[in-house]
Amino acid sequence: MKPRILCVCLGNICRSPLAEGILLDQLAKAGLNDVVVDSAGTGGWHAGEAPDRRSVAIALHHGIDISRQRARKFRADDFEAFDWIFAMDQDNLSALERLKPTHFKGRLERMLDGVVEGPKDVPDPYYGGDDGFLHVYNLLDQAAQKTVGEIQRLS
Ligand code: 4NP
Repeated sequence: MKPRILCVCLGNICRSPLAEGILLDQLAKAGLNDVVVDSAGTGGWHAGEAPDRRSVAIALHHGIDISRQRARKFRADDFEAFDWIFAMDQDNLSALERLKPTHFKGRLERMLDGVVEGPKDVPDPYYGGDDGFLHVYNLLDQAAQKTVGEIQRLS
């Protein structure tokens, strides 16, 4: 069974749209085109908006077009629709843990858990410069490699 994957940050305009785009790109390159991947924000302030132009730019620099994504707020029924829910940082994870129904038996963890040494938060690049977006891209690229490997081992 292929997991359905949801990537979650705060605004769903910077980090999780990149996570979604990178994961879909790596899955396609691995021939895994039938895995459902989506993203959402714990907050709804940016709902309906395209990703931040800096996320669009760093993705495009790596050959990935995320410009057609639109932000949405995380919903309670996402716990029914997805099996693996990856939070970008501890604040996102704590917000999701408060909403998690007891019957959810999927994975709910930070996307960098088990991926990097040291801090497991994908830092929020919203108020920083372009170098922050490259750093986020590189972290999420590593995380996606781990996730694709896990799915390949399930198949
Ligand atoms: P994201 O970044 O959670 O990676 O999408 C942010 C986007 C917007 C805001 C904060 C973080 N904001 O405060 O509006």
